[in-house]
Amino acid sequence: KSVGVVGVPFSGGQPRDGVDLGPLKIIEFGLLDQLQELGWQVKFDGHRDYTLMKPASDPPVGRLLNARYVSAVTESVASSVSAHLREGSLALTLGGDHSIALGTVAGTMAVHPNACLIWIDAHADINTPESTDSGNIHGCPLSFLLGIAGQVDVFSWVKPCLTPDRLVYIGLRDVDAGEKKILREHGIKAFSMHEVDKYGIAQVVQMAIDHVSPNGSRPIHLSYDVDAIDPAVAPSTGTPVRGGLTFREGHYICEAIHETGCLVAMDLMEVNPSLEDETAVFQTVTIGCSLVRCAMGETLL
Ligand code: ARG
Ligand code: MN
Ligand code: MN
Ligand code: MN
Repeated sequence: KSVGVVGVPFSGGQPRDGVDLGPLKIIEFGLLDQLQELGWQVKFDGHRDYTLMKPASDPPVGRLLNARYVSAVTESVASSVSAHLREGSLALTLGGDHSIALGTVAGTMAVHPNACLIWIDAHADINTPESTDSGNIHGCPLSFLLGIAGQVDVFSWVKPCLTPDRLVYIGLRDVDAGEKKILREHGIKAFSMHEVDKYGIAQVVQMAIDHVSPNGSRPIHLSYDVDAIDPAVAPSTGTPVRGGLTFREGHYICEAIHETGCLVAMDLMEVNPSLEDETAVFQTVTIGCSLVRCAMGETLL
């Protein structure tokens, strides 16, 4: 078994500096060695310099900020992810902000067109270019992947590759009014923190997997935004929201998805090592590493 690791030191999908330091920090903390110890053959693409793709001028496209830059980086990430998958490796992408998932999911769907997407997040990240208030593209990747973003020439490389029935959320608690409307109109399944409280995490994960992969048939892409975890546990992230997943709930999701045997790609996003103090950074980066390890087979016994 082998894993292709794509580090994407990119922050252009949102305004706060530092989230681009995530991949380097996570790797410094030893993730690649830890995966080797779990028996994985690790193929690391290396620390690529995506700033070379930054256009000299990138004025807003409608409301969207840094659209050309985000588009160029995510297109490149898509081809890195699909290259690893074509070689039969699991594709692990370390962010960077969550706009990068536009690339990772497109890359997965290019190789596994019937894959499903499990999105772990405090946020729905499904704003369209019209509905976004912030203009930050990390709040929009799913609208592009689903083909509900309308025509945006800068993103013409993105072909709709995901259907609403193959997307499920766990952990939501800060969803914009426009996003709630989109989720409702498209019948997208979402387990917010309310459902986690109501049913417990084990039942929620089971229902989520059954929804997107009815007979355990579909390859799974897991996109994990570290802000899904409660900020008391994972504080170093750009858009923290109280009332999140506990340490164990966050890990349980990864363990249960590993147990399906269907995981083909994982993203770990929004770790920002420049936010909060040293203890907070340590907590956030170490939980990032352990979430990935659990998704890739680490067990408690
Ligand atoms: N809904 C807000 C927006 O669209 C926040 C998005 C936060 N996304 C994230 N990947 N942390 O701007
Ligand atoms: Mn989020
Ligand atoms: Mn909000
Ligand atoms: Mn997110």
